[in-house]
Amino acid sequence: MRILLLGKNGQVGWELQRALASLGELVALDHAGAPGLCGDFRDPEGVAATVRALRPDVVVNAAAHTAVDKAEGEPEVAALLNAATPAAIAREAAALGAWLVHYGTDYVFDGSGTAPRGEDAPTAPLSVYGRTKLDGEEAIRASGCRHLILRTSWVYAARGGNFARTMLRLAAEREALNVIDDQVGAPTGADFLADVAAHALRAAMARPELGGTYHAVAAGETSWHGYACFVIEWARAHGLPVKVAADAVRPIPTSAYPTPAQRPLNSRLSTARLQRAFGLVPPPWQQGVQRMLTEAFGSA
Ligand SMILES: NC(=O)c1ccc[n+]([C@@H]2O[C@H](COP(=O)([O-])OP(=O)(O)OC[C@H]3O[C@@H](n4cnc5c(N)ncnc54)[C@H](OP(=O)(O)O)[C@@H]3O)[C@@H](O)[C@H]2O)c1
Repeated sequence: MRILLLGKNGQVGWELQRALASLGELVALDHAGAPGLCGDFRDPEGVAATVRALRPDVVVNAAAHTAVDKAEGEPEVAALLNAATPAAIAREAAALGAWLVHYGTDYVFDGSGTAPRGEDAPTAPLSVYGRTKLDGEEAIRASGCRHLILRTSWVYAARGGNFARTMLRLAAEREALNVIDDQVGAPTGADFLADVAAHALRAAMARPELGGTYHAVAAGETSWHGYACFVIEWARAHGLPVKVAADAVRPIPTSAYPTPAQRPLNSRLSTARLQRAFGLVPPPWQQGVQRMLTEAFGSA
């Protein structure tokens, strides 16, 4: 089996290189592509030609325009990366009879209410990122290709920059920190998302009726403030430099921290469908965050 992985160097893409390796022959590209192969999502027809040339059994797309605030200022680029190129890949996958695995986002929802949303809840994106990601999902579903769309939220990885690292840097430098406490979701590890993709793909290739859209996030919920307190207390307990006192990590509302893109307040996603279809039980978010912290900073 031949698998084409696009976006191989992102948080999830990097973990997919590991998780997909045992499933078959893996061709992994980043935006720079390879001789004769275009991996640049600003060029939908170039990426489509890559799919046609390689004739994979599976395409896994981990590339996206994920800079949520920047996307507000460049909606055309966001539309190419998040919608037009996934649509072109889906068209080619349908023609080849290939599977397409793609990642979606909680930002397709408006974040109202407090209940976890299921896959069929009404979408109403608040941002360019959310709207273009929704357009991408809808194009994949409309293409008729066999697909798995895994919608997730609040992704982190041990490699590269992330919210936890930023909080630990600030906690070492400052005596007080303000962190948003009215956006609620589940921090979800890129390693978990890659493993879910590999597991679900194996199952869906054996039982094609399992194809479709799923929510894939860690269990439990927290706010950015709760997440920050968790990583700062982990750092304190493990002897990392922490200047900020526990009671000086202050909760603030989203309205006190304006950003170009509006974010959903309620990012809770129900994973009931994923659990039923694939027999997967997502671990509590704290478990994966602790593992990431240990990997990134050691246990001392
Ligand atoms: N991060 C989150 O919190 C979050 C939340 C919900 C859903 N998701 C979804 O999860 C998936 C994976 O996200 P992630 O966190 O792993 O993202 P990420 O770390 O920001 O990686 C994004 C990838 O997109 C690639 N990319 C950017 N411009 C490109 C271009 N012109 N052509 C080809 N590739 C390009 C980057 O590749 P280069 O480095 O080669 O440019 C990078 O590999 C995405 O579909 C995202 O929408 C993420």
